[in-house]
Amino acid sequence: MTSNLFTPLHIRGTEFPNRAWMAPMCQYSADTSGPATGAPNDWHVQHYGSRAVGGTGLILVEATAVTAEGRISIGDLGIWNDDQVSAHRRLTDLMRAHGTVPGIQLAHAGRKATSDLEFNGGRALAADEGGWTPVAPSAVAFSESRPVPHALTRDEVEGIVDAFAAAAQRALDAGYEVVEIHGAHGYLLHEFLSPVSNRRDDEYGGSFENRTRLPVRIADAVRAVVGEAVPVFFRVSATDWIEPEGWTADETVRLAAVLREHGIDLLDVSSGGSVPRADIPSSPGYQVPFAARVRRETGLPTGAVGLITEARQAEKILADGEADAVFIGREMLREPYWARRAAAELGDEAYKPAQYGRS
Ligand code: FNR
Repeated sequence: MTSNLFTPLHIRGTEFPNRAWMAPMCQYSADTSGPATGAPNDWHVQHYGSRAVGGTGLILVEATAVTAEGRISIGDLGIWNDDQVSAHRRLTDLMRAHGTVPGIQLAHAGRKATSDLEFNGGRALAADEGGWTPVAPSAVAFSESRPVPHALTRDEVEGIVDAFAAAAQRALDAGYEVVEIHGAHGYLLHEFLSPVSNRRDDEYGGSFENRTRLPVRIADAVRAVVGEAVPVFFRVSATDWIEPEGWTADETVRLAAVLREHGIDLLDVSSGGSVPRADIPSSPGYQVPFAARVRRETGLPTGAVGLITEARQAEKILADGEADAVFIGREMLREPYWARRAAAELGDEAYKPAQYGRS
């Protein structure tokens, strides 16, 4: 039998061998200073290589900063200079060698930047600790313990578009075959989308059209760079979980329809992150209904994410037409061979390295 989970998916010029995909997850493990700042290293090779050997259909490498000031933490990956490209090449070569499609999430942390490493507490760093002044649509801090960001001028907004475009080019040069634009979790593009963080009165603030202008421009800019063959995904927070305040599920559906017109191939549907006070009802598959609604109402392919841990749960999401693929996050940190195990449970086949031939 062929399960839905192990049925290949074709998007533009790419064939994904299966629909069990790895969610982008920051490792906070790049050098924090010196020439290798932001470059993948042995940790990333081991970490992503093992999920590739594990049969994962697509690995979306963690949030990778398009500018140095766009890093969430000082240990984030980056792709803002050419020296970082060759280090990323090690990852893409390894993933491809094991049949995984290599993808990357391009990110700018906006007002949530300038943090210490997550596992050191993740607090905001001052300038004399290696921190910097973060940027955002408006000079509104995320919380009392976070710095007040610098509100981007219109010229600086142009610079953000250029930075995403340049990063997309470097991603191609590094061998990535999928580019995801990070528009979720309260980082820069989500900050433009959500009225809780966007108080602008120019063409980037106020109406739905204005708040979505920068993310849509970045979708256009990335598409112009990568050409017609490369899949481009967009990760969205479907709701700020403070409705009717904030960014809403209805707006996500509207945005999905617009992004579809602007060459986005799949919406990776997450939620939350724009305000600390949101009460998020986490339970198995809690974000799946948002992905299902986008897919049903706009026809845009979706990826479902969030507490998807079991093979049969993933299979049902796909069989019910709620999403086109599932992103597995924390469960893939626990089990690098999640895809192989899922295939066995579903009576299907996943990639197996020759060395494991008798298993
Ligand atoms: C994340 N998540 C995340 N999301 C994202 O868009 N970019 C990122 O770089 C990260 N980084 C990250 C690091 C770690 C350690 C975790 C646990 C999570 C969120 C992640 O992609 C996913 O959406 C959530 O973890 C929910 O899915 P699971 O873990 O319930 O499968």
